[in-house]
Amino acid sequence: MLVLGIETSCDETAVAVVRDGREILSNVILSQAEHSYFGGVVPEIASRAHLRMLVPVYRQSFEESGVTLDEIGLIAATMGPGLVGPLLVGLTFAKGLAFAARKPFIPVHHVEGHIAANCLLHPELDERHLTLVVSGGHTMLVEVRSFGEFNVLGQTRDDAAGEAFDKVAKLMGLGYPGGAHLEKLAQDGDPGYVRFPRAMKNEPGYNFSYSGLKTAVALHLKRLSHEELESHKADIAASFQEAAVEVLVEKTTRAACELDVSHVTISGGVAANSRLREWLTRSLADCGRRLFFPSTPLCTDNGAMIAAAGYYRYRRDGPGELVANAVPYLKLNGK
Ligand code: KG4
Ligand code: ZN
Repeated sequence: MLVLGIETSCDETAVAVVRDGREILSNVILSQAEHSYFGGVVPEIASRAHLRMLVPVYRQSFEESGVTLDEIGLIAATMGPGLVGPLLVGLTFAKGLAFAARKPFIPVHHVEGHIAANCLLHPELDERHLTLVVSGGHTMLVEVRSFGEFNVLGQTRDDAAGEAFDKVAKLMGLGYPGGAHLEKLAQDGDPGYVRFPRAMKNEPGYNFSYSGLKTAVALHLKRLSHEELESHKADIAASFQEAAVEVLVEKTTRAACELDVSHVTISGGVAANSRLREWLTRSLADCGRRLFFPSTPLCTDNGAMIAAAGYYRYRRDGPGELVANAVPYLKLNGK
């Protein structure tokens, strides 16, 4: 079955065509550049940019896929969580299209989409596995019992890991979104230069906290002279990254052992981070487990992951209703 996937929950306008939840025929992603001037996503600007660009991105996705709307068997779109205006643009477009073309429609949970990115790419992945979703909006550990049945083990109590990367990058005068810039800078730095706090690392359970780490970096930067900051930028970036990643590695490895799962995945924008990929791969291998992660374009928001999640959910529960509305704080599996 060919599935059209539409994602507009934040600042990416993305449309993809995916066959049977596995084969990507097209995956067009337009990242809105409008927000960099403000150092963060401005919801109203994002909604307007989605309105302007969704139809051109949709057309390009069909062109690249080589298929026509007639051949599409299911239309999937993100219904939440996310920014309500941006969500409404993609969701309303998808529902209107499904109604006009008489196609089944399925609303998709954004995090379910990130989780599906790994199922899409790695056919050998066990159906039951552990997943760490780390993005600009989410930091959560989830036991995937089967696709569509999720057990949320823990999540951040305040900021998401990606949000911390973005805020620290902003404090250091790097571009927005800052995660990738910060990682690049950290490559030449000494991760032992400052020992930033590893919040909740040794606490029982699987919750996270990133606001204290962000504040610790802000306070450290305030104490430095301009010269000190300039000569140690890379060291501070590396020290921050080390603290942020260490907690993710520790908690994910512990959860994998306690649940006794052989396969673990990471997804979301921060899953593009090489330090996280390397460290977690090693840590899990040391206890006989295997890590899977998406290719970099499938880590950040995209339509292919929504098409894949829509396909798996449709196979399990059948089509959704055209009355589905955008839900900014939508919970995963009600938890
Ligand atoms: O999944 P995503 O596109 O959006 C959300 O659902 O939030 O993730 C975007 C986040 C941003 O915070 C960005 O800074 C972060 O992912 N990110 C990274 C890297 N690439 C993107 N963080 C750390 N290292 C990277 N290489
Ligand atoms: Zn996302």
